[in-house]
Amino acid sequence: VTLFIITILAAYLLGSIPSSVWYGIGYFGIDVRKHGSGNAGATNTFRVLGKRAGTIVMLIDVIKGWTATCMASMLFYMGTIGETELLMYKILFGIIAIVGHIFPVFVKFKGGKGIATLLGMVLAIHPELALLSITIFILTLLASQYVSLSSILATLSFPVLSWIGVFGHPEPLLIVFGFVMFVLVVLTHQKNIVRLMNGNENRVKLFGKSKA
Ligand code: G3P
Repeated sequence: VTLFIITILAAYLLGSIPSSVWYGIGYFGIDVRKHGSGNAGATNTFRVLGKRAGTIVMLIDVIKGWTATCMASMLFYMGTIGETELLMYKILFGIIAIVGHIFPVFVKFKGGKGIATLLGMVLAIHPELALLSITIFILTLLASQYVSLSSILATLSFPVLSWIGVFGHPEPLLIVFGFVMFVLVVLTHQKNIVRLMNGNENRVKLFGKSKA
């Protein structure tokens, strides 16, 4: 039980690391929460601090989700949990890291929207499906230039593709998890959805020079 509590706490603290805020303030002296969309995430870091900073923050956030999810595999190899419980624990630790990212203890519980951390999580759970969802993300982004819309559709594609059974027999737990994540992502993107409907959502400049 102690090990279990420590792992849950570790997943939350890991997810809580506000990479965009710390990297922006530490390296550039700029708080990304005061610029662009005001979101403490990789997309807004790209927007405010440029491609290099955005990529670094995105990688850190992906690693947070991946590592938290892999802690379940660690418990499995230690013999604490069995094979049948492995997926359930991966989902549990991953979700806790995402909750940490959205409500980080280090910056007054105002964090990002959870996309990069979710990506790290799904890469650890089902890399093939995750790559298909990344493809949906890229195609939507190329077509629309909206990161938010791409994030929402890519998140939705995960449970849908898994339901269709593109990679073998559909796993009910994975489908339910995917739809729960979709609801969460819709909730964290409420302001973006309003802007998308009003036609004033930020578009990204995909090619050409960035600020840094
Ligand atoms: O990953 C977050 C993205 O979907 C939207 O970010 O800064 O445009 O609100 P932002």
